[in-house]
Amino acid sequence: MRRPGSLRDVERRGPPDRYLPRVRKLLYTGKGGVGKTTTSAATAAWAVARARANGHKDFRALVASADAAHSLGDVLGRDRLGPVPVEVAPGLDAVEIDPRVELERRWGRIHGYLVSLLRHQGIEEMVADELALLPGAEEITTLLAARGMANEGAYDLIVVDCAPTGSALRLLTAPDVVRSAARWLLRLQRGVAAIATPLARNLVAIPLPEAAVFREAEHLLYSELDGLRSWLTESDAHVRLVATPERIAVEEALRAHTDLALFGLACDVVIANRVLPPDAAREPFFHDAARRQAETLDVLRDAVAPVPLLLAALGEDEVIGIEALTAHGAELFGVERPDAILCHQPGLRFEATARGARVHLPLPHVAPGDLDVVKLDAELLLRTPTRRRALPLPRHLASYELTRALLRDGELRVDLERQPGATR
Ligand SMILES: Nc1ncnc2c1ncn2[C@@H]1O[C@H](COP(=O)(O)OP(=O)(O)OP(=O)(O)O)[C@@H](O)[C@H]1O
Ligand SMILES: [Mg+2]
Repeated sequence: MRRPGSLRDVERRGPPDRYLPRVRKLLYTGKGGVGKTTTSAATAAWAVARARANGHKDFRALVASADAAHSLGDVLGRDRLGPVPVEVAPGLDAVEIDPRVELERRWGRIHGYLVSLLRHQGIEEMVADELALLPGAEEITTLLAARGMANEGAYDLIVVDCAPTGSALRLLTAPDVVRSAARWLLRLQRGVAAIATPLARNLVAIPLPEAAVFREAEHLLYSELDGLRSWLTESDAHVRLVATPERIAVEEALRAHTDLALFGLACDVVIANRVLPPDAAREPFFHDAARRQAETLDVLRDAVAPVPLLLAALGEDEVIGIEALTAHGAELFGVERPDAILCHQPGLRFEATARGARVHLPLPHVAPGDLDVVKLDAELLLRTPTRRRALPLPRHLASYELTRALLRDGELRVDLERQPGATR
């Protein structure tokens, strides 16, 4: 059950069409071992402690692990966490999402159909069962579970501790990627179904999907995936990148920054964790290490600006348990609210021009030679060295011609022009 919107919600969230309480969404990722789980739990624990100390006694947060190699329970100093949120401190719940728990409920019919198709090809049931897990199914289910918990639990904040960068990007881009792939599949399947399924069933030697499979696929496609995509790209959702002050971790964070931007996912802060504290840096033994760290941090700060870089010092001990995490969060965020939007940046936008339209897409850290831009009907196909995305355009731009693509100041600008004689 959703908690009714309090006056605080109304004041904070402004105009009438946004009266429904919204959940602030933060998703952390970065290279393996840099401190993602620690930072996620510290953000949530400090957000609750700070809000409650400032009079918001009903402030509640959920910290959710979306990393299959869960370690959130260890970081919180608890034996076990499960797939259902439990309270770990007043106002703070924690959960380790298990996509397989919900997979059956959400993908049951589609999965069943694919299993029957594979079994028909002579594939053993157990193998067919695994193969029929559509690419992206686990990622989508994980996101659906996080969104469901965030809404049903009436939280003010959800912090998602994602897996290391590669898997996290698969998770965060799944609504977009699966939607593109599934749209083609559905078009193809509709073509087959148009032969009239009952008749075709007798003529075609493969099992054809029941109408319910189409209905389920369509629901997933048009409602769930779009819903998830907007959940992740709403103005109160941000991905935060964690890196240690080492070149490899920083390079991975910058690549992730580009990839996130390509898919319209905003980043409002970058965190450098395990920075040598000033006392240690003054020790002769650490001089060189401290100098290298300072140089790496300068590179990172310049590269991500105007997104702020926050620093967390290397502690003497591991950061485990609510108390240590709360103190870690307080030190990391200083005077800032940990759940505030720490950087506002415009996302994808379309601008009308005299001859047509200009598309603006933030795309940091990309060299012009590393980007391909092609227009196909109502989509822009964008390709960086690591990823590609089919960016849907407003329908009326389908007939426009791509005349220029330019990368400037971390932004891609694409000019689309009306063809002479074409009508809008
Ligand atoms: N600033 C810090 N000072 C001291 N210890 C830290 C700090 N940040 C993290 N640690 C410790 O480093 C270890 C790894 O941290 P954590 O589990 O948060 O990393 P992770 O990025 O989530 O790792 P994985 O990629 O395996 O999920 C933990 O033991 C944690 O307590
Ligand atoms: Mg972790």
